Amino acid sequence: MDYAHARHAGNAGDVFKHVALLAVLDELKPATYVETHSGDGLYPLGSAGEWGDGIQRLWNLSGGGLVGRYAELVRSFSKTGASRPETYPGSPLLASRFVSRQVLYEIDPQAASVLRKAVPNADVRVEDGLAALQPADFVLIDPPYTQKQEWTDAARAAGRILGTPLLLWYPIKALTRPRALIQELVKQGVHGTAVELHWTPLRLKRDRLNGSGLIFANIPKAAVSAVCASLPDLGPALQTHGEWGSVVIGF
Ligand SMILES: C[S@@+](CC[C@H](N)C(=O)[O-])C[C@H]1O[C@@H](n2cnc3c(N)ncnc32)[C@H](O)[C@@H]1O
Repeated sequence: MDYAHARHAGNAGDVFKHVALLAVLDELKPATYVETHSGDGLYPLGSAGEWGDGIQRLWNLSGGGLVGRYAELVRSFSKTGASRPETYPGSPLLASRFVSRQVLYEIDPQAASVLRKAVPNADVRVEDGLAALQPADFVLIDPPYTQKQEWTDAARAAGRILGTPLLLWYPIKALTRPRALIQELVKQGVHGTAVELHWTPLRLKRDRLNGSGLIFANIPKAAVSAVCASLPDLGPALQTHGEWGSVVIGF
């Protein structure tokens, strides 16, 4: 595979996605959790990496709020009192703390074998998660977006599971593809809310993401509200150039 999530584990995109995942699982409590692009499940972190501008920025947060609870959960995968994250739990491992049944698709056999060890009770399937997708209690779609086609494929897969509670993550470097994604979702009959966090101004072009977005479809409003309420905690913590922005689009 030409995509290794290890390089990106714990970055700002993961933080936003996993905070949202926590909010959704809080409210939805699905009997079965399905993920189309599961990754390794657990990522050992080197002494430097994208996590420095991600989870590290929230490392010492605690308290009963959504972001504090997320930080506490991630800290539980490192030694008590560690000054930085030693490992980063991916979405399947985080979700395993909230659900009893998991169906996890991962196309890369090597990643799937690491995933089986990280989440031993899950049903891990070495298959194309978008092609195999069926209506379910809850689905997380989190493609690597290494190819332009993945934007359309993700929207079409969402269109095949209308009515299924869905969380779909997307990267933001510019707004062309994110807005086309929403148009394609509408074309497929999917309606919901997009919530974006921009941690680097879009006028600045970098080799990393300027932000990321999440599509919520058929998700309880309380979960979407909780994610929106977390933006004033996440934005200042993750901003790279002294300013941050957020966008909410209903469609
Ligand atoms: C962004 S990572 C997943 C990270 C994970 N969702 C998390 O948040 O911890 C994307 C993963 O999708 C896998 N992948 C790529 N195309 C796939 C496909 N069509 N079906 C299933 N897995 C795929 C890659 O091998 C990679 O491990």
